[in-house]
Amino acid sequence: MAQFVFDRKAYEDRMQWYVHDRFGMFIHWGLYAIPARGEWVRSTEQMPEEEYLPFFHEFNPTDYHPRQWAKAAKAAGMQYAVMTAKHHDGFCLFDSALTDFKSTNTRAGRDLIREYVDAFRAEGLKVGFYYSLLDWHHPDYPHYGDQNHPMRNCEAEREKEPGRDFTRYLAYLHGQVRELCTNYGKIDLLWFDFSYGKMTGETWRATELVRMVRSLQPDVLIDNRLEVSGSGFGSLATGNPSEFSGDFVSPEQIIPPNGLFDAQGAPLHWEACITMNDNWGYTAKDKRFKPASSLIKKLVECVSKGGNLLLNVGPDARGRIPRESLETLSQIGDWMRDNSASIYGCGAANLPKPENGRITQGNGRLYYHILENSIGAVPLYGVRPEQVESLRLLQDGSEIHPADNWMVQNYPDVVFAPVTDTPYLPNEIDTVVEITLKQ
Ligand code: GLC
Repeated sequence: MAQFVFDRKAYEDRMQWYVHDRFGMFIHWGLYAIPARGEWVRSTEQMPEEEYLPFFHEFNPTDYHPRQWAKAAKAAGMQYAVMTAKHHDGFCLFDSALTDFKSTNTRAGRDLIREYVDAFRAEGLKVGFYYSLLDWHHPDYPHYGDQNHPMRNCEAEREKEPGRDFTRYLAYLHGQVRELCTNYGKIDLLWFDFSYGKMTGETWRATELVRMVRSLQPDVLIDNRLEVSGSGFGSLATGNPSEFSGDFVSPEQIIPPNGLFDAQGAPLHWEACITMNDNWGYTAKDKRFKPASSLIKKLVECVSKGGNLLLNVGPDARGRIPRESLETLSQIGDWMRDNSASIYGCGAANLPKPENGRITQGNGRLYYHILENSIGAVPLYGVRPEQVESLRLLQDGSEIHPADNWMVQNYPDVVFAPVTDTPYLPNEIDTVVEITLKQ
């Protein structure tokens, strides 16, 4: 097998759309929406398969209209999506020839992934698949003593372990990934999840897997979880990535405090995946939804630190995105309609974070996100008056003349932007000033 050489130019070329687009929808959906206690319900409750299979026979999401999902994502300003093709429970939302445990064999009788890719492409979004490396349904995946398997403590499974053929499981895993990379057209993202303990890297036959994926989908982006989970960064952070390092780091339920850099100090591409409430899969009792205003600020924070945000929705058993999530997506869309120029094609500015907000940079401009109002004109920390060609309120393009009244004359090195004549910012969540700098 030829020695792997990391081709940084080819890497940066394929990352371009992703770094530009910044904002995607994560979709966690499957049988676990029926018990509605999260996608880990089998593991957390150590639920035997026979208690879970009734959900397979019941599953019939008659309200699944993925075009509505795609429209909601697009209206929120999302540019790509990643949907679970198979989660840890092993249930396949796609018509795999390698298993009967799939959506086309439920009462739904539908290839849910096919309908998803068609709908999201029709709305102009790029499409990705989440694919679980773990599989709690497959007989050859380790059960007893595994870190996560629902039957990890079941003595009756202990004697079966020697009969499990992990090689046969890997043939299944690789075969399904081949199906996903072959049968659904151009795939933009493959989101593997997750490595743990010795279940990492070549245990998955990762080099062979990635070579197969890249031979079928040369432009696809792959996450870093063939090496790690949400914890750890993988060999991308060493500056000398392995052949299965993946293309971006995937911090989970956290935004890296200072962004992410490799061992040589070069910025890493990363994507924070975050839930709207506290769960990925539909959880009926989890009403702890984050305010849209907070999620807008988190999107800005990710971009200001050179990262992406993959924001999750967990549709219910009927195939509907929860009302609270739809409302949040709509409010995010309102802000994005006015301010997406400060997100798309933007990233970190080489300026310190100002005390009253954040700064993103791109499209030849600085975007100053005012998150806290001032008494009087708002100081744009880090920008010197002699640098400024023009200031505009991004949401309406209106000109802002830097203040030069007697209050600010004591501070000639600071640009003060009089963005409002009222005690309120033009956008109380995040008012963006577009700064064009003198060349
Ligand atoms: C964790 C969870 C998994 C979820 C993933 C999303 O790995 O175990 O259920 O799909 O995070 O990033």
